[in-house]
Amino acid sequence: MNVYVISASILSADFTRLGEQIAICESAGADWIHVDVMDGHFVPNITMGPVIVEACRRATKLPLDVHLMIENPEKHIEAFAKAGASGLTVHVETCPHLDRTLLDIKSLGCKAGAVLNPETPVREIEPVLHLADLVLVMSVHPGFSGGKFVPGTIAKVADVRKKLNALGSSAWLEVDGGINAETLPKMKDAGATAFVSASAIFKHPQGIAAGIHALRAQL
Ligand code: DX5
Ligand code: ZN
Repeated sequence: MNVYVISASILSADFTRLGEQIAICESAGADWIHVDVMDGHFVPNITMGPVIVEACRRATKLPLDVHLMIENPEKHIEAFAKAGASGLTVHVETCPHLDRTLLDIKSLGCKAGAVLNPETPVREIEPVLHLADLVLVMSVHPGFSGGKFVPGTIAKVADVRKKLNALGSSAWLEVDGGINAETLPKMKDAGATAFVSASAIFKHPQGIAAGIHALRAQL
């Protein structure tokens, strides 16, 4: 596993050719496949569920980084784990018992991640930081790909990095939203180690592989 990972978000993929496009990501050097699950309640958009995770599982050997933007995620984690998720990340804004939810995810054999929206303070995850295999700092307001990067989240990544280091945690520090060849180095300098991208990969004018290579060149 690389020190830095690129997680290709299929939200901007061509769903008529999903398997083929995931294979291109894999051969171009993507480390993880990121699956954005949205319920139309926690975020305005509705996207994919366990059947798509299961299809992705058959399409690639890469870890499936499943991002749950749904209310009551604890009701669904088992279905996503059974579908083949490698990691499940839940939003702190949706989890009144975040410690329990993270432990439940781990007991299902998945890596457990906690996500912060741009406006959610870092102190919200501090009590469970030692339990997290991954912390995801959203760098857009979640709901859609192609959103506007929120520059204030760079300092937030630096803050989380400091807290993870103080704990001696080796958790991934992931950023998601508006990550491209310009914003990635700033997030890397702030201490991020995992970079999610949809548009900069799937909408790259020279194609998916070129999109991945352009991001990788910044690492
Ligand atoms: C946003 C999703 C992101 C999204 C990123 O709510 O969680 O994963 O797909 O898209 P880009 O990279 O286009 O900002
Ligand atoms: Zn995401």
